[in-house]
Amino acid sequence: FVNTYMNDYMNIIIFASGNGSNAENIIKYFNKKKYNINWLTISNKKNAGVIEKATKLGSKIKIISKNELCEENFIHSIIDLSPVLIILAGFLLKIPNNFIKKFNNRIINIHPSLLPKYGGKGMYGQFVHQKVIENKEIKSGITIHFVNEKYDEGKIIFQKDIEIKDPKTTESLANQIHELEMEYFPLTIEKLIL
Ligand code: GAR
Repeated sequence: FVNTYMNDYMNIIIFASGNGSNAENIIKYFNKKKYNINWLTISNKKNAGVIEKATKLGSKIKIISKNELCEENFIHSIIDLSPVLIILAGFLLKIPNNFIKKFNNRIINIHPSLLPKYGGKGMYGQFVHQKVIENKEIKSGITIHFVNEKYDEGKIIFQKDIEIKDPKTTESLANQIHELEMEYFPLTIEKLIL
């Protein structure tokens, strides 16, 4: 009897600025399982790869500017959707504090390192992997956490570490991290919304 009625759906919002491999993987995972989800993908980059990927999978799309993100109007438009979850998947703008306050414990982020290591402003994507390699770390991994007012400091929901394989290059580490993200991000989201 689950999800058989027209109005029996969940709104989930994804914020992404980049290629969108996580957004794509998440939407695909839940579409396959026939969850009744309305997706809205929000990006600050109108040419980001995520736009095409999410559109193809049936997500609605919204492009916003840095200023709009802080406007009360925007926040209210999101409140009206009562999203069960807001997912940051490579979103490069800081989520404003007034927005975070409205969605306490409903905004999650994925970060490509073992936080608290290699987090904070400017630490994203390749920059994270570069630093990890430079510092000759043996391990790295992914962290999925709630978003609070401080960059990458919200309560940790899930972490997975791996040993960095040879050759220890930024690129090969990025591939290892990518695999972890593909495997564990949808599973972690599923646990949160069930
Ligand atoms: C992912 O690796 C994610 O962990 C990272 O951006 C990438 C987005 O890739 N996020 C951060 O670094 C956040 N500080 P995608 O656009 O292909 O999903």
